[in-house]
Amino acid sequence: MNTNSHSHSTHEAAEDIRNRDIRIYVNGDIVHRDEAKVSVYDSGFMLGDGMWEGMRLYNGKWAFFDEHMDRFFNSCKAVSLDVGMTKDEILDALNRTAEANGMTTDVHCRLMCTRGVKDKPFQHPGLSRSGPTIVMILEHSKPVESLQTKGIRLATVPQVRGLPTSQDPKFNSHSKLNCIIACLQAEAAGAEEALMLDPHGFVNTTNACNFFIVRRGEIWTSTGDYCMNGVTRAKVIALCQAEGIPVFQKNFSLYEAYGADEAFLTGSFGAQTPVASIDGKPIGTGDRPMTRRIRELYAELVRENTGGA
Ligand SMILES: Cc1ncc(COP(=O)(O)O)c(C=O)c1O
Repeated sequence: MNTNSHSHSTHEAAEDIRNRDIRIYVNGDIVHRDEAKVSVYDSGFMLGDGMWEGMRLYNGKWAFFDEHMDRFFNSCKAVSLDVGMTKDEILDALNRTAEANGMTTDVHCRLMCTRGVKDKPFQHPGLSRSGPTIVMILEHSKPVESLQTKGIRLATVPQVRGLPTSQDPKFNSHSKLNCIIACLQAEAAGAEEALMLDPHGFVNTTNACNFFIVRRGEIWTSTGDYCMNGVTRAKVIALCQAEGIPVFQKNFSLYEAYGADEAFLTGSFGAQTPVASIDGKPIGTGDRPMTRRIRELYAELVRENTGGA
């Protein structure tokens, strides 16, 4: 359990001692976590040169697997990273790893693919000659309850989301330094996660999740430029459209975010996490009927997608 009652992060899971003995997939082998190792010459370790996906297993099925694979293969293609496995082969490896761990539900996976081991400790991608490194870490994982009751405290930070011409923020790349710097700045400001602006000063996203506000019965989120093309984000937008809840992808500023009735974050791990405050200003009254409704709709969608009861 979380023993720190003052602070938590959006990715805080209840402690589960079974995770001390999990088995991890490393390039075709499924080994105890103590034996799961990659080379110091690995492109991911050395340069952050790799892509990853965070996915969840419920009732023996990976939620929104096709959507995650679309994003993953698209990202890898964009940086000429040859995964060396098909989507079906990845699914098979994920399922074998889950089976080796006796896992069926409430599991979080970090699937990682790097350009692999380099011949020399230098940047050039051509120095990675022995094929990709593929790792799948599966953990027993349930978000802590306090995320729902207390919500997350955000702080706006100087670090902005970049233009696609530097490092496209749509890449779920191993290098997350831009987001990490933002998170450090938010923590220094006494918050738990960073609310990041785009290069024009509009509210964009947080360092690890997508960001939504609820205003006068409407749902607003950024245009989608500069933020991760989150699978959960897309599902929330589609759910709103299907349910007739007005939803807008648009530019808005902190003025509108501070004055929102509710705000919430989305991500595969926490689904929808309420925002308690931004820059010390409480959001709404703390009553969150729309966030609750969307959370219920999303939970139902996950159940449908994973064949649960
Ligand atoms: C910066 C950032 N935003 C948002 C998300 C949420 O994406 P998803 O809903 O696909 O989990 C992630 C997760 O990878 C992320 O790293």
